[in-house]
Amino acid sequence: MFNLSSLHISYMKRNIVMISNKPFSSRIIFAIFCIVGWTYLYTSSSNLSSLFSLDEVENSKVVILMWTPYFGRRNWNALSIMAINNRSYPDCFLECEITYDRERLEEAHALVFHAWPTDLKKSDLPKHRKVDQLWVLLEQESPILARKDLDSFSGIFNWTMTYRQDSDVFHPYSKIVPLDDNEGLRASNATRKTYDKKLMAFLSGKRKLVAGVISKCSTDSKREVLIDQLKKQNIQVDIYGKCGIEICPRGQPKHASSPCSESVFWQKLAQDYKFYLAFENSICLDYVTEKLFRTLELGLVPVVYGGANYTQIAPPNSFINVDNFKSTKELSKFLRNLDENPDEYKKYFEWRNKYKVVRGDGWCTLCNKVRKHNNMKWKLEERKGIPVRKTYDLLKDWWFNYPLSSAKKNSERKQACKKPTKFE
Ligand SMILES: *[C@@H]1O[C@H](CO)[C@@H](O)[C@H](O)[C@H]1NC(C)=O
Ligand SMILES: *[C@@H]1O[C@H](CO)[C@@H](O)[C@H](O)[C@H]1NC(C)=O
Ligand SMILES: *[C@@H]1O[C@H](CO)[C@@H](O)[C@H](O)[C@H]1NC(C)=O
Ligand SMILES: *[C@@H]1O[C@H](CO)[C@@H](O)[C@H](O)[C@H]1NC(C)=O
Repeated sequence: MFNLSSLHISYMKRNIVMISNKPFSSRIIFAIFCIVGWTYLYTSSSNLSSLFSLDEVENSKVVILMWTPYFGRRNWNALSIMAINNRSYPDCFLECEITYDRERLEEAHALVFHAWPTDLKKSDLPKHRKVDQLWVLLEQESPILARKDLDSFSGIFNWTMTYRQDSDVFHPYSKIVPLDDNEGLRASNATRKTYDKKLMAFLSGKRKLVAGVISKCSTDSKREVLIDQLKKQNIQVDIYGKCGIEICPRGQPKHASSPCSESVFWQKLAQDYKFYLAFENSICLDYVTEKLFRTLELGLVPVVYGGANYTQIAPPNSFINVDNFKSTKELSKFLRNLDENPDEYKKYFEWRNKYKVVRGDGWCTLCNKVRKHNNMKWKLEERKGIPVRKTYDLLKDWWFNYPLSSAKKNSERKQACKKPTKFE
């Protein structure tokens, strides 16, 4: 990592050794020469960078230390859950190492702290902070469910890593990206035919209408009210999880092939149901979770309700947005119509010819951004008046308002979360 102050010291030391054998007066003259010369170099940054070939640090390896546990887990298993995108984004991690090993505190260019209340504790922060080390706050919950004592961490973190697009490190749950040229249905007409057959069989196997998996029964978004309204319109809605049908009766094994395993359960859901209620628990800017992405991946049509700009993140005709309907009556009519018209319903699967769902690339973005920061001649830029340092003050305020900013309270910022509209 580039560190101007250490360069400075070694440069001066060399001069001191050089002048120590000379007579006193020449030492003074030499010292004055040094000071004047140094001042000149110090103020003329372009000369400085060429003299000390600062570019050497470029492409050096980045080390990121996950300081806190991740949902209570502190091991390679947890790391693989987070860095799972190593498979989707292998290039990112070639020169970027993510470690849990606290012994490597000194070496790490960035430290990541998971804001989850039982993971991040004030008493557990590193005792000593290296001046050039970036401290990054990882937050995945919406402001509504975020910890209440966020402000006690004000003035500590340099960067934020969240699902919000205005974070320093944008860390979405998943992403939908165009297929590569050689992928999927672009291959050949024969593949296309088999695919069409399979798709038709899959779609005609769906005999039930709407499913949801919900573990929080009373929410800020009032999704439970919306679900009740749909049921009142005689829409068949089956809710699984803590707030509905038990997925996994007590004592049942959870191994991979058991109906209690998560993947078996989700596959069954996709086989049986046409629609899935991807209703978020709060209506907050950019807040969209696996509820949407998993459903798209598995082959259910998501009915979305939340604060994200869904047209921005998902292809056209891949989802149904509650917001586009005046009433639950209209929404019900629309769903019923699709249920009765298989050709219309099938159109919600066409996006698959062009796009795919991939894991979020937040860790990849972090690696790249830390590398860029390391390479930046930031002490020089700072001297030119370019702000390169950043610390989040008033942590609660930045999370509840947008755009995110390290600045003090700003009346132009808007609230990140909305109250739900009334349903009829
Ligand atoms: C990602 O994969 C590469 C190559 O297999 C490996 O060297 C690296 O340590 C992995 N990084 C992470 C963060 O798992
Ligand atoms: C695939 O089908 C399209 C139209 O159905 C046809 O124009 C095209 O030539 C076919 N391609 C191959 C490789 O058979
Ligand atoms: C949502 O995203 C689309 C596509 O990027 C954009 O055209 C539209 O203005 C956005 N809507 C809002 C409300 O920001
Ligand atoms: C990171 O935050 C600390 C604490 O406020 C601050 O001293 C340091 O200058 C910041 N570094 C960068 C690169 O923003």
